[in-house]
Amino acid sequence: MRIILIGYGVVGQNLTRIFINRRAELFNNYGFRPRVIAVVDRGGAAVNPKGLDLERLLLSKREKGTVAADSKFGKPGASAIEMIESLEAEAVVEASPTNIKDGEPALSYIKAAFRTGKHVVTSNKGPLALAMPVLTELAEHNRVYFRFSGSVGAGTPFLEFAKRCLFGDRIIFIRGILNGTTNFILTEMVERGVSFEQALKKAQDLGYAEADPSMDIDGFDAACKLVILANWVMGKKVTLKDVSIQGIRNITRNDIESAEKEGFTVKLIGSIGDKLEVKPTKISKEEPLAVGGTFNAVTFVSEFAGEQTLIGRGAGGVETASAILRDLLDIKQKLAARVWPE
Ligand code: HSE
Repeated sequence: MRIILIGYGVVGQNLTRIFINRRAELFNNYGFRPRVIAVVDRGGAAVNPKGLDLERLLLSKREKGTVAADSKFGKPGASAIEMIESLEAEAVVEASPTNIKDGEPALSYIKAAFRTGKHVVTSNKGPLALAMPVLTELAEHNRVYFRFSGSVGAGTPFLEFAKRCLFGDRIIFIRGILNGTTNFILTEMVERGVSFEQALKKAQDLGYAEADPSMDIDGFDAACKLVILANWVMGKKVTLKDVSIQGIRNITRNDIESAEKEGFTVKLIGSIGDKLEVKPTKISKEEPLAVGGTFNAVTFVSEFAGEQTLIGRGAGGVETASAILRDLLDIKQKLAARVWPE
């Protein structure tokens, strides 16, 4: 599979590391031979239609800060759109940073990929939160697959679990912790007695928080994930503006300690029922959702199978890269089986 990789931050680099380390296994077990023909970062691109040397890419990124510095295959200043439009490839992996103001530039990359008949895998929440109904329709119109497992729960397969494991059932309610940073902050405040600011600083140092931490603490990141779940799993046609959002900025140690004394814990909970809502909520410590640290947890309530809760790490570069790999394998298998429409 020829792949154009847009964005070469921690997720993109981890994906190429997985490709390097699992080369034989991916081929032997899945018949999957990823050929990364272009990588684009802020400095430009590296391009080789025969397939780039991934070790060399990682080295160039580490030592020179950009893949475009490669002496043989680098193209300083080359743009992602140019690469998507001019190169022949089966898939575009879009892993550029999230922007929830207008979804750009990722939104344009995804549309360009669809337009040129390329399947898309993204972990980017911005375009999905703002335009998911349109994007899924566009993908269908262009007869390409559109996958985004890593956008919710990083490596934890919340989307696939709900879509595949509860196949045939009807999910009527979803409730969960969808943001690792805020869960980490709330947990640190309880367990270590630290202030909100200290806990946030630690989450940033550990690399869980978004570049703009307001995304996490003001609830936007969780709201984006709620929108993705609502569209993909429950068939709702909603976007970010349909979510009522309240973050954890005003939660004090006092709030948390008094909840703890009564056997409760405060979590940033997102829920999808008649309406979509993100807000700090007191839940019983006995609930399956009462997980600490950076864990995410989502309870799916379905008509026949009842209630299930899936818990897993919801943030991290290698975790998100593993979700992108799952999506690529899924597309590969669908193409091999000629499954269309889905
Ligand atoms: N900042 C996000 C979180 C990263 O803390 O959950 C994963 O989307």
